[in-house]
Amino acid sequence: MKKWYIKLFLTGIALFLLGCGHTAYLGMHGSSIRLSPEIHESMEKDVQCLECHDLDSTEGPVNPHPDFTGCIKCHND
Ligand code: HEC
Ligand code: HEC
Repeated sequence: MKKWYIKLFLTGIALFLLGCGHTAYLGMHGSSIRLSPEIHESMEKDVQCLECHDLDSTEGPVNPHPDFTGCIKCHND
């Protein structure tokens, strides 16, 4: 019975990886806000980011993954 479980587990992982080819979904980190510190100084809240990186924003590059939250986790390396 144990082997059956392991197979199911591995298949699940494989499907997950295949289905989420988009790098952002693999937990990879995006480009850092530290590339342009003069713009991004002392920012930490999602709402702040979205003022310039919303879908219809013209100020900065468009946020390619509008469903994400916690921008700082991935964009502060
Ligand atoms: C005042 C408007 C503004 C706010 C607020 C803002 N950004 Fe930006 N952001 C910009 C602009 C303009 C650029 C383009 C900078 C460049 O090309 O040098 C940029 C670039 C970026 C980039 C691409 C990396 C780069 O430097 O080219 C990322 C990632 C990013 N911002 C994430 C964030 C996150 C996360 C937040 C919230 C903590 C945030 N931004 C808040 C205006 C803003
Ligand atoms: C799970 C990690 C993660 C989170 C959370 C996240 N991002 Fe990203 N972001 C990425 C990755 C990875 C990329 C690189 C583009 C790609 O391949 O999707 C990216 C790209 C971007 C870009 C384009 C940067 C460029 O160089 O043009 C912007 C703007 C951006 N993110 C803004 C945000 C904002 C705003 C938030 C919060 C609402 C956020 N991100 C949350 C991982 C993340």
